[in-house]
Amino acid sequence: MSVLRSMLFVPGDSEKKLAKGASVGADALILDLEDAVAASRRPVAREMVHEYLRNADRSQSELWVRINPLDTADALRDVTAVARARPDGIALPKCDGPHHILKLSHYLDAMEIEHGIPQGSIAICAIATETAVAPFSLGQYKGAPRLRVLTWGAEDLAAALGASSNKDEHGEYTAPYVLARSLCLFGAHAAGVQPLDTVCPDFRNSARLQRECEDARRDGYLGKIAIHPDQVAVINAAFTPSAAEIEHAQAVIAAFAANPDAGALNLNGKMIDMPHLKQAERILALVSRAKA
Ligand code: COA
Ligand code: MG
Repeated sequence: MSVLRSMLFVPGDSEKKLAKGASVGADALILDLEDAVAASRRPVAREMVHEYLRNADRSQSELWVRINPLDTADALRDVTAVARARPDGIALPKCDGPHHILKLSHYLDAMEIEHGIPQGSIAICAIATETAVAPFSLGQYKGAPRLRVLTWGAEDLAAALGASSNKDEHGEYTAPYVLARSLCLFGAHAAGVQPLDTVCPDFRNSARLQRECEDARRDGYLGKIAIHPDQVAVINAAFTPSAAEIEHAQAVIAAFAANPDAGALNLNGKMIDMPHLKQAERILALVSRAKA
């Protein structure tokens, strides 16, 4: 399964943005039926997203759909409107925990049978820090059906907490949001699914985006959400291993292969041991799993 370095949100009721989305180079588009669409526009957005799924070329970007939260009447309407056109996955906002994934998975089981879609083929991305209770479940996602991506959101969490802001006077996330980000990272790796960093809403600030990408990649995130086409190339580049990283990973692996009985080795004056070997193997796995 490929790594999704970039997932670009596209409002599901915007003909112009849907048309543009196809050519942006994101590993996936998330056609939105939730927060980027006014409630009055949802019926038309469902139809537009359904049509788009049926007709758009998927060779460059997977096509995902963000539905409304499961505790709203819109959720089931969204699923029934779009699942028949076989999206690659569903993004679930305000996900409280694995019980929400199970419920959505049951809906998808029924849709797949009804429409002759291979069982289990529609994946799930959980946006798993948007309610006050959600962070308490981040360690519980192992084995959740269909789950491929775990991500976090700071805007809805701030709203859920009645926070006046999620950033301090220097523009950095305050403690509750840093915690949510870290727990999401641990939870994704613990569950064996892909961790995806949250959006950088300051979409004209490419320096900030670059820094957020570097921080996320360094910590173990494998991709990031985009909300504007200009963010996609920056994100894709940041989450693609560089030639120097690949070369170093190959050198680490070669050093251990040449010394099969060694636990620790000297590589160019630096100690390398098992964690370095694991990291080198991860880098090379990323290269083979990334899209061309
Ligand atoms: N997907 C596809 N195309 C997009 C886009 C997106 N998310 N965001 C902007 N574009 C298009 C615009 O339509 C415009 O196209 P044009 O060159 O044909 O006119 C071009 O990219 C440049 O857009 P720009 O004028 O810089 O931005 P904007 O003011 O039109 O839009 C936002 C700014 C933030 C409203 C817009 O980027 C957006 O809707 N983002 C997604 C929001 C979302 O889905 N939020 C929910 C998840 S947090
Ligand atoms: Mg939201």
